[in-house]
This record gives sequence, structure tokens and C-alpha cells, in this order.
Amino acid sequence: MADTLKGRHVLITAGPTREPIDPVRYISNHSSGQQGYAIAKACAALGAKVTLVAGPTALADPDGLETVHVETALEMLAAVETALPADVFIAVAAVADWRPAERADKKLKLDKSDFCSLPLTENPDILKTISNLDAQRPGLVIGFAAETHDVEALAKAKRIRKGCDWIVANDVSGDVMGGTENAIHLVTPDGVESWARMPKQAVADALAEEIAAAL
Ligand code: C5P
Repeated sequence: MADTLKGRHVLITAGPTREPIDPVRYISNHSSGQQGYAIAKACAALGAKVTLVAGPTALADPDGLETVHVETALEMLAAVETALPADVFIAVAAVADWRPAERADKKLKLDKSDFCSLPLTENPDILKTISNLDAQRPGLVIGFAAETHDVEALAKAKRIRKGCDWIVANDVSGDVMGGTENAIHLVTPDGVESWARMPKQAVADALAEEIAAAL
């Protein structure tokens, strides 16, 4: 396979984040990490130095690249910032938008009606933060969009709002979350390409080729 990403550093977030409520409970989501891990492997296969910043998943650390394990969105942002500089940043992680304002030291009790209102605070937007860096902004910043409707229109708006270069958009109204296949629309400044439904590793391989061609 061609070493078209040799000499490049590709930084990728993957998986969910886990935001603790108390020692036994957390807020999270259904991300399996498969798509992000597949992209990390695909970029490494093209010769890139890859840093994979991963939330909790059931997946094994891929060979031939560095995996940094984190739990929360704050930890994920810190790990991403530590791993800079990078030529490419790909935000695949399904970051929890909110975290409990406080983490309780002891298990919360239902009878104290602690759960009637759980104060939340907004997590940092890692993609937006990295997209808007000055000196350390990677040359190519790619975000993901998981939508259940109006996928293309929402993805185009998201590209502008986040300040990233590309958005990989997928329709998650079906069984994509946790499934092995994905059908994506690649939104770039030049327009939208819609790809046929294919296994997540094939999506990753094709995306890695597009990245190599763009650099
Ligand atoms: O706004 P939304 O969550 O739909 O955006 C999804 C994109 O933004 C993904 O690339 C995801 O990794 C990234 N994101 C992030 N930090 C957040 C929320 C989303 O990096 N707090």
C-alpha cells in the first residue's frame, strides 16, 4: 500500500465520553468507537503517525499507533491539545454535550429526590476549539455529523458553524450507531459527495485516501 501519509501526524478522537454523576452513574451515548478506530487504522496503513484519543470503548488498541485513553470531554480536549501539533485533526468522537455540574463523592439517593433536577454544565466543543486555533490549527480539520433528518443541509451548516474544513455526515436514523456499516456524505468547500453504504472500514480507507490526496 502506498505511503501517501508518511511524515504526517493525524490526530483522531473516537468513541463516547463518559461524564460522571456520582461514583456509579454517568451520562454517555451509544458510540461504539468503530468508525474512529477504523479511520485511525486506515491512516496508519498509509504511513501516518497516528494519535487516537479514545473514550471508553470495547475495542482493542490498534497496532502501530498511539492510543490515549480518556473518559470525559475535558480529558479528551486536554489530550488532544497535548498531542498537537498535527497535520490533520479528525473529530469522530461522540462527545457528551453536557456534564453534571458537580460530581458527587457518594452515590446519590433517589429518596432525596436528587434526580428531579440534575444541574448540568456545557462541555467544551473540541472540534470547534481546534478549528479556531491560530498557530496550531492543523491544516485539515474534519468533523462528523450524525443526523436523523436533513442530513446534507445540516452538515453544510455545521461545517460553517464549527469552522472545520470537511464534514463527514451520516444518517443515524437507521442502525448506524453501533452497526458495522455507514453511508456518508462528504461535505467540503467544493460541495457534497454522497458515498454508497459500505462497511465502516471501507469508509475509513476511502476517507484516508481523500485526506492523503488533499494534503
Ligand atoms: O454539534 P455536534 O455534536 O453534532 O457535532 C459533531 C461533531 O463535533 C463531531 O465531529 C464531534 O466529534 C464534534 N464534537 C466535539 N466536541 C463536542 C461536541 C461535538 O468535538 N463537545
